[in-house]
Order: sequence, then structure tokens, then C-alpha cells
Amino acid sequence: MDSLELIRKIPKAELHLHIEGSLEPELMFEIAKRNQIPIRFQSVEEVRKAYSFSNLQSFLDIYYEGARVLLKEQDFYDLTWAYLLRCKEDHVVHTEIFFDPQTHTHRGVSFETVFNGIHRALCDARVEWGISFKLILCFLRHLTEEDAFETLRQALPFKKEIIAVGLDSSELGHPPSKFKRVFEAAIAEGFLTVAHAGEEGPPAYVREALDLLHVSRIDHGVRSIEDAALFGEIVRKRIPLTVCPLSNVKLRVFPELRKHNLKKLLHAGACVILNSDDPAYFGGYLNQNFIETAKALELNGEEIRKLAENSFEGSFLESSQKDAWLQKIREIK
Ligand code: ADE
Ligand code: ZN
Repeated sequence: MDSLELIRKIPKAELHLHIEGSLEPELMFEIAKRNQIPIRFQSVEEVRKAYSFSNLQSFLDIYYEGARVLLKEQDFYDLTWAYLLRCKEDHVVHTEIFFDPQTHTHRGVSFETVFNGIHRALCDARVEWGISFKLILCFLRHLTEEDAFETLRQALPFKKEIIAVGLDSSELGHPPSKFKRVFEAAIAEGFLTVAHAGEEGPPAYVREALDLLHVSRIDHGVRSIEDAALFGEIVRKRIPLTVCPLSNVKLRVFPELRKHNLKKLLHAGACVILNSDDPAYFGGYLNQNFIETAKALELNGEEIRKLAENSFEGSFLESSQKDAWLQKIREIK
């Protein structure tokens, strides 16, 4: 079987996907029109042209701008449904989705509206074709700890349906330590934790995420390898790294895909998982990330299988479900 066929056929889990980052320009225009929200672009082509970024912040500015069109429960439903259709196409059988409530509550949209729209789409997809899912609430790290506490309070009525809290947005200057207390409060409420760290920020932020936020996974974490002791621990403890190659190139974490360290991380024994991050902005959903990365780094079938296996190993699925998917992968010849 060639690599393309293997990538298409193999079941995969996606563990690093910002639902707001799956807002395609076409849907942005459609929702803006029905909500009568002005957008500064004249056409879908013009929006796509603006998706040229120099770093994380230059992307975040336009990502938050795009999210302004989302107002009603149905908007969040349509956004999520469109992403789920791409999962179906790419044989993503399990997805763990990030959502950023503060991006919306700060504009007067209630937590409940955001949650209900996303969750209803996920439940419908589960009924329709059997995809499984988890939801992860991300705190925006450029905002204050108090704001994160308020968001945690708003999440409590929905806590049975939210597996974990995470940390995203502008990394530099906003270390994990800023959120130590709110993560401790979240853990006391029964949430698991994850955090973006070592995307643009130094390995010290990854260390803080592990020691102070008690994370189960590191989102990105590509810079962990700069600290041998830290990286050794990540390998030894099989702490998953949810790596996003197309994102990393678009945001200039790596100058080109051929220079990405994913293969090096994988061969050093880390539990590396491939993800799309914000696919509407970075040029591709999960299979596109697999295809382009496999080509640029010359990944063989065994390495592609390992990435798919890692996606289930690193997920928040029950171990019996993980084992069932690992068995399915083994059956693909
Ligand atoms: N929010 C959406 N995508 C992000 C990323 N790649 N890093 C940090 N925050 C984000
Ligand atoms: Zn991300």
C-alpha cells in the first residue's frame, strides 16, 4: 500500500484542533451576512490572501477577528458540523476539540450558547456516523487569571461534558505559572489539564506546564528537545506532544516543512501526534498534514502507523477503546 492510501485508510484521532480555527472564509461570509456583521474583506479570495503570518500573534489577530461573526448557537453548530464533515472525509474517528469561551463571552455571547452549539453538532455526528469526541475548554493566556477563574465558574454547569481545560493564545510573556491557581481549581473540580507550551515559548514553559499545571499532554512542545533533561522526561513518561506541522510552518516556528523536527522527536522516542491546529488558516485538515509531512520528511509506512497509534495512545479515550482502535490499525495491511 502506498503512503497516500495508508494515510486515507488508517483510523486517526485528532487531539489539537481549535474549533474557531476551522472557520473557512466561505462560512465566515455566510454567517456574517445572516448576522449582519460587517467584515473588512470583499471576497473569500481576499480573506485567503490575508492569511500570511509572521508569527503566532499576527495569526491570532486575524483569528479573533474572524470569530467575531459567531453569535448564535446555530453559528457554533454550523462551524462544528463543517469540521466534523472533514473528519469523516479524513477518517478521523475520534476528535478532542478546543474551544475558547472568552473569545465569545467578551463579545456578549453566553458560555451556554457557545457550548450548546458545539456540543449539539458533536452529538449529531456521533449518532450519524459514530465519531467519538471530547471537549477541552481553553483559557486565553493573554487575559488575566481572574478572567480564567470567571470562565471556569461559567463552565461548571457543563463540567460533565468537558474533559479538560487547556491554555492557548499568545505564549511569549504569558508563562503557565500565571495560571497555576486556576488550573489547581480546575483539577479540584475533576478536569484533566493540557497546555500549549514550547510552540514559540522556551522549554522552561514546558517544564512549568508539567510541574505547575500538571498537564497530561503538551500542545506543540516542539522546543522541548532544546532541554535534554526535560525531553528525557517527556520520552520516559510518554507525555504526548500534539504537534502541528503545517501550523508551525505558517507561523514560522520552522522555516519550511523539510526542517521540521517531528521525525527527530518521533525517533527519539516521544509520543508525537500529528494535528491540524487551525486548518482553515494553515492550509489543511488532518490528512493534508499527514500527506505533506510524510512527503517533506520522507516518512515510511511504519512511521505513519506510529503517528496514528500515538493519536489513540495520547487521547483521553478509555483504555478499552484505545486498544480497539490499535487493533484496527494492526488489521490494515
Ligand atoms: N489559538 C489558536 N491556535 C493557536 C496556536 N497555534 N497557539 C496558541 N493559541 C492558539
Ligand atoms: Zn493550538
